[in-house]
Amino acid sequence: MQRLLQLDVRVTLSLLLLLLLLQAPTQLAQHHSPNPSPIPSSSDAMANTEANNVAEFSRRLANFSVSLYGKLIALKPNTNVVFSPFSIQTCAAMARLGAVGDTADELDRGLGLVSSDVGKIAESFHQVLAAYEKSSILRIANKLYVMKDYELADEFNSLLAKQFLSTAENVDFTLSAQAAGTINKWVEQQTNSLIKDLVPASLLGERTRLVLINAIHFKGNWVHQFPEHATRNERFHLNEVDGVDVPMMNLKERFRYANLPELDAAALELPYKDSDLSMLIVLPNSKTGLAQLEQKLRTTPLAQITDKLYSSQVVVKLPKFKAEFQVELTPVFQQLGMSRLFSDNANFSKMLKSPESLKVSAIVHKAFIDVNELGTEAAAATAFVVACRTISFVPPPRPEYFYVNRPFFYYIASYQGVALFAGNMQKF
Ligand SMILES: *[C@@H]1O[C@H](CO)[C@@H](O)[C@H](O)[C@H]1NC(C)=O
Ligand SMILES: *[C@@H]1O[C@H](CO)[C@@H](O)[C@H](O)[C@H]1NC(C)=O
Repeated sequence: MQRLLQLDVRVTLSLLLLLLLLQAPTQLAQHHSPNPSPIPSSSDAMANTEANNVAEFSRRLANFSVSLYGKLIALKPNTNVVFSPFSIQTCAAMARLGAVGDTADELDRGLGLVSSDVGKIAESFHQVLAAYEKSSILRIANKLYVMKDYELADEFNSLLAKQFLSTAENVDFTLSAQAAGTINKWVEQQTNSLIKDLVPASLLGERTRLVLINAIHFKGNWVHQFPEHATRNERFHLNEVDGVDVPMMNLKERFRYANLPELDAAALELPYKDSDLSMLIVLPNSKTGLAQLEQKLRTTPLAQITDKLYSSQVVVKLPKFKAEFQVELTPVFQQLGMSRLFSDNANFSKMLKSPESLKVSAIVHKAFIDVNELGTEAAAATAFVVACRTISFVPPPRPEYFYVNRPFFYYIASYQGVALFAGNMQKF
């Protein structure tokens, strides 16, 4: 019986982040210094091609990812972290479009947005969202739930609809269980049921006005699949002393690989079929090197790693793994210099037509990843015995070895570096 080899790396998905906006207590009118008009720089003028724009967007997103990652591992040490920088940034950017004054400035800086002009911000996200709109392996959806009888401000509504490809729907947040059910059902539908119960009903109530959501789902097959028969239990080192046996996939193939002495690590790129997406694994040289690597990654742009990749035969060992992660992001945003949005001094006056004061009451993020094999296996054997005619003194190229048998860091990013997912694996 012939069986096809099919490794389904199903890096699935998802996440989402949600912002709840509540009516803030009455407050004194704020005095904002008017926004300084942005000074056009020569680099602005040059960044006129779409590719340059996406590259700049990606660079800033990667920087935001690294800052975020640093805060998440500090908040949840000894946990397998997985999150979607892109989802978090997208959802926060949607909220930014309704912000004014210092609230807006903090978000522009903290998120690393490309501009402080709402039109340009929206356009930068649109380029990425539109690029994957018809993708069969990556689905990104944005959604806005609005308290019944409330109307969105026109500019906010049109930027979200046209540029963020988002739809708006009215719900009654005072019926909190029902509203949470509606929202969570939408999220499940967007994420192939991998993200459930994103928004607890306890976060909703009579003061809730809007819930903004981004959901992302990815399911891709490796270009080079791992043969299922080659998977066997092998040791994964948790530290110098302890280890666990995990199902280890094995493969020898040509991959892009880099030795990174300055990071005391090596990197491997595993591309996905029918897409410009790949997983980049950064593996410390030492069993206990993850923490030090994470420190160094803070000041190492993603592009600095990918620029060093070269094609080589690589003998790869990679464990099958799954991880799930959930976090409330308020403290993380605060640590990244974005506090005002949660305070009574927040100004989101460009969101709704009604003049109520709004602030963010929670940011929830959940993510899930599953790297595994599914499908069938084929076996056939044919041998070509090939002998060389003259003896060559050129040694055959030595393969590289990439044994992911110790805690590591990974990204799933596009060719241009849009960081869709990031995480680490340190426990099984
Ligand atoms: C928000 O900013 C706008 C424009 O600067 C201002 O008119 C409005 O009073 C502010 N609202 C609050 C609640 O501070
Ligand atoms: C990266 O982000 C940090 C804040 O997290 C910011 O201070 C820094 O300027 C950013 N760097 C670049 C090159 O954008």
